[in-house]
Amino acid sequence: MELGRYRLEEQVGQGGMAVVWRGWDTQLRRTVAVKVLHAHLHSREEIRKRFDREAHAVARLHHPYILDVYDFSGPQAQPSYLVTEFIRGQTLRTFADEHPFDPPELAAACLLPIAEALQHAHAAGVVHRDLKPENIMVRDDGVVKLTDFGIAALLDPDEKFTVTGSILGSPSHLAPETIEGKPADPRADLFSFGTIFYWLSCGKLPYQGTSPAALLRSILDGTRLDPRAVRPSISDGQARIIARCLENDPAKRYQSAAEVKLELTQLLRDSGIDDPVRELAAFVRAPQAHAANVRARLVARSLGAGRLTTFGRITLPIIKGGIISGAVLAFITSFDQFPISRGDPAGSGDGGRGAGCAREDCGRAQRTAAGRGSQHEDRSAARRNCQRPDLREQPQAHGPPAGEAGGGAGCEAACPPACAGHHR
Ligand SMILES: Nc1ncnc2c1ncn2[C@@H]1O[C@H](COP(=O)(O)OP(=O)(O)O)[C@@H](O)[C@H]1O
Ligand SMILES: [Mg+2]
Repeated sequence: MELGRYRLEEQVGQGGMAVVWRGWDTQLRRTVAVKVLHAHLHSREEIRKRFDREAHAVARLHHPYILDVYDFSGPQAQPSYLVTEFIRGQTLRTFADEHPFDPPELAAACLLPIAEALQHAHAAGVVHRDLKPENIMVRDDGVVKLTDFGIAALLDPDEKFTVTGSILGSPSHLAPETIEGKPADPRADLFSFGTIFYWLSCGKLPYQGTSPAALLRSILDGTRLDPRAVRPSISDGQARIIARCLENDPAKRYQSAAEVKLELTQLLRDSGIDDPVRELAAFVRAPQAHAANVRARLVARSLGAGRLTTFGRITLPIIKGGIISGAVLAFITSFDQFPISRGDPAGSGDGGRGAGCAREDCGRAQRTAAGRGSQHEDRSAARRNCQRPDLREQPQAHGPPAGEAGGGAGCEAACPPACAGHHR
């Protein structure tokens, strides 16, 4: 099929607004992506306007981590289409569903470029408003790109953001103030960023509900589990950044994407990840092998090992007494909660993690969380959430870690007999 000078070769994706094709630009002789507005939406003026706004939003932006726009048919053309660079890869949603970002520091490495992209967009007067894993693409070479500015709010850079935020984004990632219909504000993107960071770090969304109304209510209430209760290997520093992005009051959140970027950079540096872009690229190319490599380095760091050595595809830390054997390392890293890296030498300020739960059928390693108090997460909410059947079914998510300010007792009371008693 031909569309102007573009030959549509293969359908590669579909969203609420459009079908996306891999196409061939017959003039410039290069592969492009052609996003074609759904025919049935063409008659709706507000949708055409939205498509027009998307074209203008991306046209303003030139950044290595934002999809580049090449051409636009105009909103009146039928069909109306937008031509952009083609991404050989998959959405972050698909990629992460297949390849867990574990150790969770990999999630920070993945989202650092997105924080940078947001910083650029906000400076150019563009609020994305629909930040979600489906709108981030992971290229096969490991570069991530922010896409789909379909409902972006556009303003002249020296104006204030005053466009009223009608509820258009995806419910799971909506900021509370957007739900309340307040004006679009770059800080709403930072909240959505926090929901993605949470999800990528522990594999679950911070807010879920049995119905859209219940979901929106839980966002407004701010009731969520501490991500460390879902994946104990998340560091305190990482949990703090997530929690600050997810503050319900925008004034308590990070005030700019630049701040988020700085904090992520520091977090990664403290974990010994000095080149996150390269780290992410290596992970995307060989997810399992590189995740094991990163885990080994984090363990080595926390053990005070100076160097690593590699045997074929296995990376092992060298410590004073010699090389840690593969079997020992496999044993150590099999404990999800092992205090790897964290810029926190083993044992300091986080005593006693590592003892397994005594119950055989639990299968959950346990920890005592001295010094683990979070200033941000709602502990009573975590206990309430423990009553949720969907969480009870999953051993690693059924309550806050034992030892957290009263969490254990409340949780035991709330859980069914099969579950109660082995939180401690
Ligand atoms: N530039 C691109 N290169 C390759 N695939 C893309 C590109 N843009 C979008 N896609 C695919 O098409 C899907 C829908 O695109 P998107 O822009 O999010 O449309 P919508 O506005 O309808 O949600 C994406 O989730 C992705 O799988
Ligand atoms: Mg989309």
